[in-house]
Amino acid sequence: MLHQSVAIDTNSIWFILSSRILLLDGKVALITGSTQGIGLAIAKEFAEHNGATVIVCSRSKDKARRAAALLNGKTDYASIDVTSDASIVKSMTKVLASHKHIDILVNNAGFPFERKIWYKSLDQISITALKDILEVDTVGSVRMTKTVIGSMLASKRGGVIVNISSTPAMYGHFEGAPYTMAKAAIVALTKHIAREYGKRNIRAYTLMLGNIATEATYKFMTREERLKGAQEAAMKRWGRPEEVAKVAACVSSDYFSFATGNTVVIDGGAEMS
Ligand SMILES: NC(=O)c1ccc[n+]([C@@H]2O[C@H](COP(=O)([O-])OP(=O)(O)OC[C@H]3O[C@@H](n4cnc5c(N)ncnc54)[C@H](OP(=O)(O)O)[C@@H]3O)[C@@H](O)[C@H]2O)c1
Repeated sequence: MLHQSVAIDTNSIWFILSSRILLLDGKVALITGSTQGIGLAIAKEFAEHNGATVIVCSRSKDKARRAAALLNGKTDYASIDVTSDASIVKSMTKVLASHKHIDILVNNAGFPFERKIWYKSLDQISITALKDILEVDTVGSVRMTKTVIGSMLASKRGGVIVNISSTPAMYGHFEGAPYTMAKAAIVALTKHIAREYGKRNIRAYTLMLGNIATEATYKFMTREERLKGAQEAAMKRWGRPEEVAKVAACVSSDYFSFATGNTVVIDGGAEMS
């Protein structure tokens, strides 16, 4: 849908320059873990630039409310802990009562970046750490997907599910195997959603991210770690959360109506296959 910021005049070039496409107009999107970092950037892109109604989520209701209030556009908030069925059911019941349906789910919530887990080789990792990460990144995404797909099927509107993974899931890494394994399962989840529900007009995508500068990563790194991260990309820099958010808006839109199950790598050309 075209949104004009000025009245149409006879100058068609001016008309094009002053028009903007709202990719997600009329859609309701729920984004887990969206009070900071990549999740917040996606919420902003969807609500402020693409016309979606966005449900901002956090484990903390106050944090979600505050983040939602700072965004322009149509927003709501929900407290969702993806490790808790009770939390998901309670919040989704409220969200569906208010908004009737969810058109887009972004499974963004991720276990916090922790040096003591990430910087360990496979023989050093603890099974507890593996289970903790799987519980949030993988099982949490499955829990949310099960619930939201149920409502997408009931509404008969179809929908889009965007899952957030990471490049080690495809290429492996020198350490941090629990995270790699949790994010690899996300690719399989996407493909299952695409194959099982394609005929019901539900699409799914994996966004496979390289080094994206967020509060959780870049902010806590040493100068050397930041430089090393930048050197990994062909573009010799870290990605910005906004650059992930724009891709999320594209795949969630009707522009991707005949593409599903895809993995979109967003890593500045670090890994190419
Ligand atoms: N930054 C990168 O370089 C990078 C690279 C590859 C992939 N990723 C992935 O991208 C996503 C976002 O990363 P980010 O850098 O923006 O990290 P982040 O700032 O730590 O964001 C993750 C969010 O997940 C939420 N969360 C954690 N545990 C949760 C739970 N049990 N239930 C619900 N929400 C939970 C947190 O929100 P609350 O504390 O408010 O609940 C947090 O805001 C993650 O899945 C991450 O693995 C990031």
